Amino acid sequence: MSNWNIKSWREKPILQQPTYTDQALLKEVEAKLQKYPPLVFAEEVRSLKKQLADVTEGKAFLLQGGDCAESFGEFNADNIRDFFKVFLQMSVALTFAGGKPVVKVGRIAGQFAKPRSSDFEEIDGVKMPSYRGDIINDIAFTKEGREPDPYRMLSAYNQSAATQNLIRAFARGGYADLRRVHQWNLDFAKGSKTNERYQTLTNDIEKALDFMEAIGINSQTMPSLNQTVLYTSHEALLLNYEEALTRADSISGNYYDCSAHMLWIGDRTRQLDGAHVEFLRGVENPVGIKAGPTTTTEDLLQLIEAINPENEAGKLNIIVRMGADKVGDHLPALIRAVEKEGKKILWSCDPMHGNTIKASNNYKTRPFDDILREVTNFMDIHASEGTVAGGVHLEMTGKDVTECIGGAQAITEENLASRYHTHCDPRLNASQALELSFLIADSLKKGAKK
Ligand code: PEP
Ligand code: CO
Repeated sequence: MSNWNIKSWREKPILQQPTYTDQALLKEVEAKLQKYPPLVFAEEVRSLKKQLADVTEGKAFLLQGGDCAESFGEFNADNIRDFFKVFLQMSVALTFAGGKPVVKVGRIAGQFAKPRSSDFEEIDGVKMPSYRGDIINDIAFTKEGREPDPYRMLSAYNQSAATQNLIRAFARGGYADLRRVHQWNLDFAKGSKTNERYQTLTNDIEKALDFMEAIGINSQTMPSLNQTVLYTSHEALLLNYEEALTRADSISGNYYDCSAHMLWIGDRTRQLDGAHVEFLRGVENPVGIKAGPTTTTEDLLQLIEAINPENEAGKLNIIVRMGADKVGDHLPALIRAVEKEGKKILWSCDPMHGNTIKASNNYKTRPFDDILREVTNFMDIHASEGTVAGGVHLEMTGKDVTECIGGAQAITEENLASRYHTHCDPRLNASQALELSFLIADSLKKGAKK
C-alpha cells in the first residue's frame, strides 16, 4: 500500500469533523482506546469478505440495516433484541424467496457519528453547533450539550462492546434457532397483513424442518439451523476513533479497523483526495461507499481504483442512494462504466437517503412507497443491465415507531408526532421493515424465475 500509514489521513483535507477545544484530553482518550481490546477479530472480517464476494457474484444477498444514529439514551437490551428479531424475520423472508443465503450486516455497535448538512442549527433565532451524533456531542440544544467531548468516544466504545456481546450471545446461544421462527414475531405486529404472511412462511419453514429432522438433519448435524452471524458496520466518519481501534493483524501484518466488521464512507466525505478515502484505503475490511446523484462515472472509477486496486471481490460495496426519481437517470451509466472496466463491485441500494422529505408539520420523513420504488427500480435496472442487485441498506428499528409514512399500517403525517424517536433520520418501523422485505422478496422471486 503506497504511502499509507495509520496516520496518513491526518495530512489530508477532512470534512464533517468536530473541533475539540481540549486537544490534550483528545490525545488522552485516543491513547486509552488504542489499548482497549478490539471489538471484532480479523478472521471474522475475512469471513465477511468471503461472503460479500458471494454476494458480488450473485450467490447470496446482502441485508444491511439498523439505526440512522445509535444513541446513549436508547441503549437497552430490549431495543437490541427487537432489532435482532426483526432482522431475522426479514432475513428468512428474503432467504425463502430468493433461495440464496442472506448476509446480515447491522448498522449497529458503533453507528454513532453523523455528517450534517449544516455546521449550525438555528432555533427561534438562537444558533448552536449542530448535533453530530452521541459519540461527539449531545442532542440537547444547549451550549454545553453541543460542545464536542472526547470522553464520549469511550462511552461509544463501551456501548458498542456491550451491544456486540449481546448480539453474539443471541446469534450463537440458541435465539436464532430456526425452530423459534414463530417467536421472533413482535407483539405489536400481530394481526396485520404482513404478520399473516409471516405466519404462512413460518408454517412452511416448520414443515421443512420436520421433514429434514425425519431424514436425520437437525441442529446437531447442521449448526446453521440454530446459529447465525450478524456482522457489524458503521460510517467511518470520526477518524480519531477509527484510527485508535485499528490494529495490525498478528498473522498477516495487515491493518484491520477493529471497530466493526465493515465500514463505509458517506456521500459527503467521499472526496478522492480527502482523509476518509485515505484512511479506508489502508485497511483490510470490506468498505462501502455511498453514491448519491452527484457521483460521476469518473469519480466512481477513481474511488474504485483507490479503495480496491487489486479488484478483489467482496472488498468494495457501492451503496447507491439516488432517490426513487433519480436512480433511473444515474445508475445505468455507473454500472456500464464499471462493467466496461471489469471491476468487481457489490452493488446495494440505500432507498432511504435520497427519499427524505419534510412533512407539512415539519417532521423529516420518508414515504414507504418511494422507498419501495427506489429498490424496485434498482433491481429492474440491474436485471436489464445483466448485473447483480446485491442487496439493500436500510434505516430501521425493531420498535413500533412512527417516522416513515405509509406502508400497510398507513402511517400518516399526522401520526408522525406520536412515536417519533429517532436521533437523526426517520427509520422504517418493524412492521414496515418486514413488509418491505416481503416486497423485495417478491422481486427476487420474479428475478430467480427469469
Ligand atoms: C447515513 O447512512 O446515515 C448517511 C448519512 O448516508 P449518506 O452518506 O448516504 O447521506
Ligand atoms: Co441516515
